[in-house]
Parts: sequence; structure tokens; C-alpha cells
Amino acid sequence: MSLVTTDSNGNTPLSPEEIQGLIPSLSTKQELNEWEWENILSAREWATATRMTIPELVSDSYVRKLHFRMFDQTWKWAGQYRKSEKNIGIPCQQIRESLAVLCGDVLFWIEKQIYPPDEIAVRFHYRLVAIHPFPNGNGRHARLMADLLLSNLGHTPLTWGAKDLIKRGEARTQYLDALREADAGKMQPLLEFARS
Ligand SMILES: Nc1ncnc2c1ncn2[C@@H]1O[C@H](COP(=O)(O)OP(=O)(O)O)[C@@H](O)[C@H]1O
Ligand SMILES: [Mg+2]
Repeated sequence: MSLVTTDSNGNTPLSPEEIQGLIPSLSTKQELNEWEWENILSAREWATATRMTIPELVSDSYVRKLHFRMFDQTWKWAGQYRKSEKNIGIPCQQIRESLAVLCGDVLFWIEKQIYPPDEIAVRFHYRLVAIHPFPNGNGRHARLMADLLLSNLGHTPLTWGAKDLIKRGEARTQYLDALREADAGKMQPLLEFARS
């Protein structure tokens, strides 16, 4: 199937079972991107209109709920943790526990002001994509999570290079390079990219 391919562009390929979970009947990657974009747009509207406390937002149940809203018209497994291993991410058995640890860390950073707000959001984003909780949509979901956290803290959402990060291009390359630097423990490039 040409819809979801393995590539070197930081995308995670889907398993045959996951591909079976596609709800609409679409034939090209472009159609899928557009369909997902519409789905995500309505999720973004829902999420920005919903009032919630920071502990409600930074929770594994909200992480799942947001993914569900972003992909509920697209994938039957929207909002469900992945059950197959990917080239990015931790073993799937560890997802639930790692997310609980991450949420605890983020709430601690906020409460004790360990980092400035932007850095908390970017570190949250990075740890989310590194866990890679879902079969697909992890990048878009974790960017929206970071933006929602910042707005709920009373700050402006990030700009993420101000370009389409889904398509191949300079911004996507810069973003992936910055994530690899973060993999190596250097957070500064991702922090700068997120505000560029
Ligand atoms: N080396 C890496 N380290 C951490 N995260 C990465 C790395 N490479 C890619 N990613 C993240 O994984 C995402 C791709 O996963 P995927 O589930 O397909 O998300 P999406 O469908 O939203 O693009 C990228 O957008 C990026 O956020
Ligand atoms: Mg993808």
C-alpha cells in the first residue's frame, strides 16, 4: 500500500493491522494528509475551547484523549497506545509507565520552575515523541500537546519553524536534525527551532 511507506524522513511505518485501521477509503498519501489535517483542525478547535487545569492536561488520559480527537475520523486505533514496535520509541510494554513518569516530571518542572515555560514545553514534546506512544501521528500530537501546555500556562504557542513539517523540506530536515541533537542530550537546537 502506497499510503504509509517506510522512509528516511523520520516517519514510522505502520504494521499491516494498523493499516487495516484506516477509516476513510483513500488512495494516496496526499489524500491521507489532507484528511488527517481536517481531523486535526477540529481537534485543535475542541482542545483550545476546552478549559482544563494543568494536571488535567499533563496526564496520560489527556494524552490519549487528544490523540483520539485528532485522528478519530481517520484511524480506528486513534487514542490507543501502539501494540507494535517501531524504529523510533520505547518498547510498547513500557509506554503507559513512561508516560506516567513523564507527566510527573513535567508537573514538577512547572511547580518548581525548573526551566522557563518554552523549555518545559519543548522537553515535554521531545520526551513524548521519544516514547512514541501511538502507531502514527506522534509528531503532530506532541507538537499540539506542547502548544496547549504553553497556552494553558498563559504563554504563546510555539512556531515550529513556521512551515509545514509534514512534507519533506528544509523545515522538516531542521526539525529532525534538532530532534537527533536532543537524542544526544542537546536540547538547545530544538528549543531554537520551536521558536523560529
Ligand atoms: N530521532 C528522533 N528522535 C525523536 N523523535 C523523532 C526522531 N525522528 C522523528 N521523530 C518524531 O517522530 C515523528 C514521526 O512519527 P509519526 O508517528 O509518524 O508522527 P506524524 O505522523 O505526526 O509525523 C516526527 O514528526 C518526529 O516528531
Ligand atoms: Mg506519520
